[in-house]
Amino acid sequence: MEYTVKSGNPEKQRIGCVVIPVYASRKLSASAKVIDKASGGYISNLVRRGEIEGDLGNILLLHNVENTLCDRVLLIGCGKEKDITVKTFYKANRIMVKTLEASGATEIASYLTEMSVKRKDINWKVQHSIQAIDEALYKFNQFKSEKEETRRPLRKFIFSVHGRGQLMQGEQAVREGMAISTGIRLAKYLGNLPGNVCTPTYLANEATKLSVHYSEVKTTVLEEDDMEKLGMGSLLSVSKGSREPGKLITMEYNAGDKNQAPIVFVGKGVTFDSGGISLKPGASMDEMKYDMCGAASVLGVISACAEMQVPINVIGIIPTVENMPDGIASRPGDIVTSMSGQTIEILNTDAEGRLILCDALTYAEKFNPDVVIDIATLTGACIVALGAHPAGLLSNHNPLANDLLSAGQTSGDRCWQLPLWDDYQEQLNSNFADMANIGGKGAGTITAACFLSRFTKKYHWAHLDVAGVAWVSGTKKGATGRPVGLLSQYVLDRLKANKSA
Ligand code: BES
Ligand code: MN
Ligand code: ZN
Repeated sequence: MEYTVKSGNPEKQRIGCVVIPVYASRKLSASAKVIDKASGGYISNLVRRGEIEGDLGNILLLHNVENTLCDRVLLIGCGKEKDITVKTFYKANRIMVKTLEASGATEIASYLTEMSVKRKDINWKVQHSIQAIDEALYKFNQFKSEKEETRRPLRKFIFSVHGRGQLMQGEQAVREGMAISTGIRLAKYLGNLPGNVCTPTYLANEATKLSVHYSEVKTTVLEEDDMEKLGMGSLLSVSKGSREPGKLITMEYNAGDKNQAPIVFVGKGVTFDSGGISLKPGASMDEMKYDMCGAASVLGVISACAEMQVPINVIGIIPTVENMPDGIASRPGDIVTSMSGQTIEILNTDAEGRLILCDALTYAEKFNPDVVIDIATLTGACIVALGAHPAGLLSNHNPLANDLLSAGQTSGDRCWQLPLWDDYQEQLNSNFADMANIGGKGAGTITAACFLSRFTKKYHWAHLDVAGVAWVSGTKKGATGRPVGLLSQYVLDRLKANKSA
């Protein structure tokens, strides 16, 4: 898809379709008024007759509107002008794409960037037009013998900006929107792949591919032998029951100052989570192919950074394994020694995410990180607490937590903080080892984070539990690409802060 920005009047666009917002109740937007005037009151007449109310989701497709140079004018209802949220903006863009895909138009000038979204500027609207369009166009048909093809696929979107002064920053927003969309796409793609394809080895190959595509990315892969030498007994205890070898992938993107401490992302990469000997129930077990979505989001954000060429140091670490039952799999009651030296009693082999993350978090120390952020589909309890809207956020450093909350607000890919109080730590007491890997009844998301916090004492750290947001269940089942949007925004915010410092 080609995306650009342009300033200019809608009736002057020589193009397949011009897309114009209309607000409730029957209120014309600025661009609608311009076309109305050019066409001798055609639009206002239609609106007065009740052809379009302007409620969110209304559409009216017009052809050959007088005194316009475009083939079509598509009016999109955007709801009350004062109530336009990020959600509204995404929905209006989705409706635009769905309508246009069936219309025959291939080149589009969108004036949806004219809507005023609360606290968002034109750059945001251009960037997120692209992300919304890309999301609406996304299909995963890799494994379908017959792929549904669009007859005349959309080729180009031009976004309207105000005056020449906004063109330069508009172009920058286009680059950012395209780079982040590519990262989101990669995360979705990897998430949607089945467990028999997307193995730890597959993820390692994908990470290596990134380093081939982007010369600033350096990928290294540690094998089980290497991890053995590092003393990663906790990570390896999860991998033990699987025929697929576990890996520890590191991607280094060092485009920043040499002596600037890196942002480190650590992503849970369980390519299939059967629960191990503490086997999960059968219903929806297929969804545990998504248990590597944390890892996928790390690949996604590294790809976005490299594509945007942000001058900053970012490192991605992915512990990746498959969690399977077997004759040599870990048993409940087994005690293992982590790379940190702390011992862990595995009371439930289904609490495996924290077992691989803890060793990866210890490994992260060697990069002298500025901050470490882990992303994991860690607990079903997070879905109970927060549902599918925000990711769960827990942190040992409030400024970092606030930065992530703020990046969530900006990107629309939100998170919500839960307390990481010491009061919860005693739930991890073990009779036989330094700690147990489960915290018993109550506050499952918090006790999981408490477990991780015992391995992150040496740096500023935040944990994102993305169990509720990384994929949707039901008939529209599929990976969402979250939280690539949030993480990319966090990186961009940090870059801005560096510049002004
Ligand atoms: N990958 C799951 C968490 C999960 C469950 C994500 C359902 C999305 C949907 C994780 O490995 C797990 O099994 N967690 C257990 C922990 C429990 C045994 C303490 C859980 O949440 O039930
Ligand atoms: Mn599990
Ligand atoms: Zn899991």
